[in-house]
Amino acid sequence: MADILILNGPNLGRLGVREPDVYGTLSYADLVEAGARWGSEAGLDIEVRQTDNEAEMIRWIHESVDSGSDVVMNPAAFTHFSYAIRDAAAMITKGGRFLVEVHISNPYAREEFRHHSVVGPIASGTIAGFGFDSYRLAVEAIKTLRAGK
Ligand code: DQA
Repeated sequence: MADILILNGPNLGRLGVREPDVYGTLSYADLVEAGARWGSEAGLDIEVRQTDNEAEMIRWIHESVDSGSDVVMNPAAFTHFSYAIRDAAAMITKGGRFLVEVHISNPYAREEFRHHSVVGPIASGTIAGFGFDSYRLAVEAIKTLRAGK
């Protein structure tokens, strides 16, 4: 099982073509490739996944809890309303693993419905607004947390 799972919610498989003015021009395939590169640089197994399906995301979160992976999660629109994902994700941090919530854009600078995250309060921390770099920074944060620094 992966050391770090990078889980992506709905519509993030469309990166590169979806609102490039907001989310940039790099594709989801670029994110998968970057994740593998960050993993090999750090000597960690990093796996990137994406789903448009809430139940599948919850299954992956359960899988991470059972296997003790740390998680970087961009819950996408689920961020703003999914108590089911929040409840599942709470098991990650309550179980002593790390969860970093990431966003490519800065939701606080956008529409009001994006200003609230139901996931943020149970996460180890949140990184938002740095484009794709939000993911890399989240992996760096988890490396630091794993090292107990
Ligand atoms: C997002 C921000 C969310 O508000 C939105 O629903 C997304 C992407 C981001 O990465 O900036 O799908 O999570």
